[in-house]
Amino acid sequence: MKFIDLFAGLGGFHQGLTNTGEFECVFASELDVDLQKLYYKNYGIVAEGDITKIDEKDIPDHDILCAGFPCQPFSLAGSKSGSKCPTSGKLINDILRITKYHLPQFIMLENVPNILTIENGKFWNFIEKSFNKIGYKLIYKIISPEEIGIPQNRKRVFILGGRDEKALNSFKWLSGIKVVKQRLSSLLETNRNNKQLEPEKMKQLNCWQYLLDECNIARLPSISIVAPEFKATYPLDFQNHSLEDMRQYRGAYGISLKKCQSWNEVMAKLPSYTRKTNRAPEWLLRSIRYSRDLYSEESTFLNRWVLTLDKRYNSWQILEWRGYSEKLSLSKHILQFRASGIRVLKREKIPSLIAMTPTQIPIIGSEMRYISSIEAAKLQHLHSLPYTLDNETHFFKALGNAVNAKIVELLGRSVMEINTITSLRGTL
Ligand SMILES: C[S@@+](CC[C@H](N)C(=O)[O-])C[C@H]1O[C@@H](n2cnc3c(N)ncnc32)[C@H](O)[C@@H]1O
Repeated sequence: MKFIDLFAGLGGFHQGLTNTGEFECVFASELDVDLQKLYYKNYGIVAEGDITKIDEKDIPDHDILCAGFPCQPFSLAGSKSGSKCPTSGKLINDILRITKYHLPQFIMLENVPNILTIENGKFWNFIEKSFNKIGYKLIYKIISPEEIGIPQNRKRVFILGGRDEKALNSFKWLSGIKVVKQRLSSLLETNRNNKQLEPEKMKQLNCWQYLLDECNIARLPSISIVAPEFKATYPLDFQNHSLEDMRQYRGAYGISLKKCQSWNEVMAKLPSYTRKTNRAPEWLLRSIRYSRDLYSEESTFLNRWVLTLDKRYNSWQILEWRGYSEKLSLSKHILQFRASGIRVLKREKIPSLIAMTPTQIPIIGSEMRYISSIEAAKLQHLHSLPYTLDNETHFFKALGNAVNAKIVELLGRSVMEINTITSLRGTL
């Protein structure tokens, strides 16, 4: 079967489908010049540029259109609601335009799951209706690599469209596959020039470890330890209190609110996470209470401990524990410096690789180093690419954007199965 690879990136679709030995790529399009060059080196195909500028008539005929379209502001042009879709692009219109002209047997799309729900499902409705109009039925499934044994938690929606509804209804997704669970340790590369954790981050982790060692915590549930709550007494529903009332309380790390003359002064002394919405955020309340209780039990130690904590960054003052409840050693976990806090995760799987920021690259706690791009490529099943990008940050970003090639390979095999059924029906 012939396929086209739109928004080709590193070629996760290309890699996955050609791994089956049943598919041939006849066209690719990618905006990023470095990725275009890399695509040529890896697959021997010149990827064309901006898809919005490519006439559909110039694209060769194909049986399957693949597209992991990027997330961009989207406006449902012409719709009565005039609604804005914050995460998916109007590039879907180009996919529709090409599909309408070529009428491939199948389309295979991949995106973040919230394209199904944003704008109360309006965007997804738009996609589904638009494809229905040109004769395609769509089915979809949210799949994460961990379901096929790869230790990465990365939920993505895979959408399959086809004109033969009967065939599509018999599509098997991943059912029947034999899952061989890969251990994270089997993916880790030893003895490479791995990027070690920066000394200041290392110092902060040591500080948090000291707290975990010294406080009497037998079991740590899935909760965040929120350091600014130590010694704080401000009411969690402070938005219902008067300025005068607030003066009797203490803000972040126990700073007195006594002399505050205005709400601005009060807010400046409350923890940063209360400032965004002028309240203690609902999702953090359980953790705030837990942290205050911990302080009341361990105040002598914690009063000393807070002096050693680096308070330059708000997110470094929150330990988001999602790890083992009885193994309180950071070195036994995967760690991640996130915008919301320092996330501690069980070692079974790496959190989703994301494209936006290299600062969130997962850290292997036992070695206090970032995962390498080769390891990240393994998590995306793109490790057999002959060439990679010279710029490590750019390569990481592209990996975070890529579709998992092993999932595509398995879906490709299932597509072949229904294609055979359709062809058999045609000959009978
Ligand atoms: C989400 S990524 C898809 C990655 C790809 N599926 C893979 O496996 O690597 C979207 C890609 O679309 C490319 N892109 C964005 N706008 C484009 C356009 N107008 N024409 C062609 N490619 C575009 C981006 O450079 C990016 O590499």
